[in-house]
Amino acid sequence: MVSKIPNSGTSIFTIMSQMSAEHGAINLAQGFPDFELDPQLLDLVAHYVKKGANQYAPMAGLPALQKGIAAMVMDCYERPVTTASITITSGATEALYAAITAVVNLGDEVLVLDPSYDSYRPAIQLNGGIPISIPLEGTDFHMPWEAIRKAINSKTKLMVINTPHNPTGTTLSKNDFEELNRLMKEHPNLYLISDEVYEHIVYDGNTHWTAHWLDCAAKRVCVTNSFGKTFHATGWKMGYAIAGEHWTNEIRKIHQFLTFSVNTPIQHALADYLSEAERYTNIGKDYQLRRDAFVKAIEGSRFTLLPCQGTYFQLLSYKKIADKNDKEMAEWLTVEHQIASIPISVFYDEPTDVSLLRFCFAKNVTTIQDAGKILCKI
Ligand SMILES: Cc1ncc(COP(=O)(O)O)c(C=O)c1O
Repeated sequence: MVSKIPNSGTSIFTIMSQMSAEHGAINLAQGFPDFELDPQLLDLVAHYVKKGANQYAPMAGLPALQKGIAAMVMDCYERPVTTASITITSGATEALYAAITAVVNLGDEVLVLDPSYDSYRPAIQLNGGIPISIPLEGTDFHMPWEAIRKAINSKTKLMVINTPHNPTGTTLSKNDFEELNRLMKEHPNLYLISDEVYEHIVYDGNTHWTAHWLDCAAKRVCVTNSFGKTFHATGWKMGYAIAGEHWTNEIRKIHQFLTFSVNTPIQHALADYLSEAERYTNIGKDYQLRRDAFVKAIEGSRFTLLPCQGTYFQLLSYKKIADKNDKEMAEWLTVEHQIASIPISVFYDEPTDVSLLRFCFAKNVTTIQDAGKILCKI
């Protein structure tokens, strides 16, 4: 068999998690919380399982959950979206795959800003598209607007952005948002996927500049989200795509044959759970405490912290400590010091080493403090 994605091997998340388990390390590599979900959400799931809501859900999602999502989008961003523009998917991963598949044809170019989440490029390639990688710029990983403008040509079909951004923890600024709005106007055939799975995890009172606010949102924008990230349940693989109705129709045709529909009792539970706004508005406050605990825990260490404006990832530079490349450094820390992280070079298409490691602080404060003690000794 000829592989359609020959360069795609075992993901670094699997490799580091396995290595972490083998060496009894604290796993701050893979992005998943190690604390329990809200018992009320667990009770709702149990309730619906026992009540017999265990057969196929409607293909595009349970109407009650679509309505709950529309209400949340209204509440957070004052944007009215119809249920006809919301598709419930198996995690944001499926939403991304279906949205990419819907627009990308053979030979289409797709702009991807590196470092980038690892599912974008294979999804583009599997559809015969050509990912065009553009690195975020500078030590603060800002948006490379000039390079983006230069890269756009008649073959450019789609751009994928991610805010708050994994792995850098940066967020789109007001200026970036305005620049994006202008860019989308200048290129009326360009589609945009805005991966906003960390939409509720923004710090220090800053605004989440969402693609929902773009002037072209109703026609050429798809926003992808994840209940796994929002409600600390990554294993449930519950996500959704919000796109213009025309794009949504195509997304649903693909979703129909990828999964058909997703977990019924969990959709019921989430629909009920969304009825109280604090359940999503408090997420950022909770993670800010964990971020601050991590920052405090590594005070006095030789690692240098990069600013973290959103997500539950913290980048640390080890330039003052070692001249290893980041993969070697991540392995060394796991094997010799029992702390696992992710080297950020893996989020690039071109080999790039910026001597940075990504640590996930979606952990109990005791785990964070134990990790800090180790990092301070290095
Ligand atoms: C930026 C980004 N997009 C998408 C996803 C996938 O989300 P899900 O687990 O809901 O498929 C992740 C998961 O880590 C992510 O970090």
